[in-house]
Amino acid sequence: MTAAAQFTRIPHPAPTSAQRRQEILAAPGFGRYFTDHMVSIDYADGQWTDARVEPYAPLSMDPATMVFHYGQAIFEGLKAYRQSDGSIATFRIDANAARFQRSSRRMAMAELPEELFIESVRQLLEVDTDWVPAAGGEDALYLRPFLFATESGLGVKPAGAYKYLLLGSPAGAYFPRGLKPVRVWLSTEYVRAAPGGTGEAKVAGNYAASLLAQKQASEQGCDQVVWLDACDHRYVEEMGTNNLFFVFGSGSQARLVTPELSGSLLPGITRDSLLTLAADAGYEVEQRRVSVEEWRKGAESGEITEVFGCGTAAVVIPVASVRSADGEFSIGNGEPGEVTMALRDTLTGIQRGTFADIHGWMRAL
Ligand code: PLP
Ligand code: COI
Repeated sequence: MTAAAQFTRIPHPAPTSAQRRQEILAAPGFGRYFTDHMVSIDYADGQWTDARVEPYAPLSMDPATMVFHYGQAIFEGLKAYRQSDGSIATFRIDANAARFQRSSRRMAMAELPEELFIESVRQLLEVDTDWVPAAGGEDALYLRPFLFATESGLGVKPAGAYKYLLLGSPAGAYFPRGLKPVRVWLSTEYVRAAPGGTGEAKVAGNYAASLLAQKQASEQGCDQVVWLDACDHRYVEEMGTNNLFFVFGSGSQARLVTPELSGSLLPGITRDSLLTLAADAGYEVEQRRVSVEEWRKGAESGEITEVFGCGTAAVVIPVASVRSADGEFSIGNGEPGEVTMALRDTLTGIQRGTFADIHGWMRAL
């Protein structure tokens, strides 16, 4: 099957009223509401088949379906942004399509061709256009492509059949307090991923493995967990749903450091984009290991002036303080930093079409 192949369209018999949709779009939150349709594509006998745009609805599945038992499930997250002329554009969709394939490969799953991934997004945006939030604000339509094993049976092996689904969900700020800097919890008891494991793939199980530490973070009054490396429990990897950046110094002397891709952290598309935008802005950028001691000492001496997390859902989120079993330290004065906000403005400006897209990241669909 190719992207040009026909997608069957089954319109929703009773779509959400315009009034209800406006109510939802006025305060969408994150991941709470879904558009009227979803895209579904099946994989069996070595072929992608039966591409459909259909009403968003529950699935009926055999209890022996392999995903329930052995967890072959991957996902992506990207956003569609309303531009000021009313059109809709996605940000680096080809990078999400490529990472989806890499995640499939790591989990011995079928790989959805990149052009089908992109076409599925185009199809959903065409039928659910009115669900993309208005231009000029921070909101966007979050897109959630995912793939899971659908073969039934209890033998442990890569499944022979899969289902790809794409959902759309209008999204505002991921953290309920918006841009207010977050407090993070350093997990020293648990690890998210180890070398040779699945940490650099966007695999559902990575998130399942993270939830106990995230629960601990909440109990400690923190917004999110920060993971350390699995071998030394010393080097910072990433946050629960974000990559991390450290700003050393300030003004034109500021330098940015982000943990290098260790094989066990997610190669974020926002991380990669900010490395480029920071270099464009004239900052020195470095990818290397950052230890917890360096973080604490740098924050205490004032050498580390800002720290922020970045990801599709959360965009760029300042980190104000770090708590662990050993105590707590803060970064800067607890307000969003200058470099953090300048990079955030550039990134969101490109996504909203108000800044020049010199790297060709936006794609109108
Ligand atoms: N790290 C983790 C664990 C994530 O879940 C995410 C979110 O997707 C990121 C990093 C950031 O990745 P991206 O910028 O591609 O959204
Ligand atoms: C994203 O930023 O897209 C994520 O995947 C984070 C989270 C909602 C899982």
